[in-house]
Amino acid sequence: MIRISESTIETDRLLLRAWRMDDLMDFYSYASVPGVGEMAGWPHHENLETSRTILKRFIKEDWTYALVFKENPQVIGSLGVQHPWTEELAKYKNLEIRELGFVLAKEYWGQGLMMEACQAVLEVAFNKWKLDAVTCSHFATNHQSQRLIEKLGFKYKQTEFLNFRNGKPPVRTLNYMIDSDSYFLGS
Ligand SMILES: CC(C)(COP(=O)(O)OP(=O)(O)OC[C@H]1O[C@@H](n2cnc3c(N)ncnc32)[C@H](O)[C@@H]1OP(=O)(O)O)[C@@H](O)C(=O)NCCC(=O)NCCS
Repeated sequence: MIRISESTIETDRLLLRAWRMDDLMDFYSYASVPGVGEMAGWPHHENLETSRTILKRFIKEDWTYALVFKENPQVIGSLGVQHPWTEELAKYKNLEIRELGFVLAKEYWGQGLMMEACQAVLEVAFNKWKLDAVTCSHFATNHQSQRLIEKLGFKYKQTEFLNFRNGKPPVRTLNYMIDSDSYFLGS
């Protein structure tokens, strides 16, 4: 079982560690900005209580990293190691697979920070957790996430339509994967 609290990671600009309750204001400050969470499939937080509830869940589940910007120590995003899109598919049923899900505070976009964080987690995923594969997904309209996923070397696998039960039509979503062979071969 993966417990991210047992695998704190340091990169050039970031510290990836478990969430703490005193991160609440940092979390709320980026999660309450309209249009950020929506790109990842969740509504922006309307109040501090929503952030508090989700923060408690992050701490309990222990599979989502807080991204701390070392230069100005505050939490500027999250990177989860979560249930993969492959979960219900027979073809992948005997494999250890996790999905990366990420969000960065808007003012930090475009500096390659999530690339740095994801590369570090991929290294741990394959070398320490010994996963068979790591997956990633983005809504068809989310071009910045698509760019990041492509730059990380994920390979497109399939398209699915996700239903969010919000009265809106299903959302076209592209699913990607890196398996351990291609990770270690660098292909
Ligand atoms: C997706 C996300 C994590 C990317 O993080 P990042 O650290 O900014 O990634 P990068 O710096 O590598 O930029 C990725 C692409 O985003 C685009 N981008 C960068 N800054 C941008 C900005 N300010 N506005 C719009 N697009 C921008 C660029 O196309 C860039 O691709 P390029 O390197 O070919 O120019 C970040 O945009 C984000 O948090 N978005 C909202 C939540 C989300 O979409 N999560 C993913 C759900 S699948």
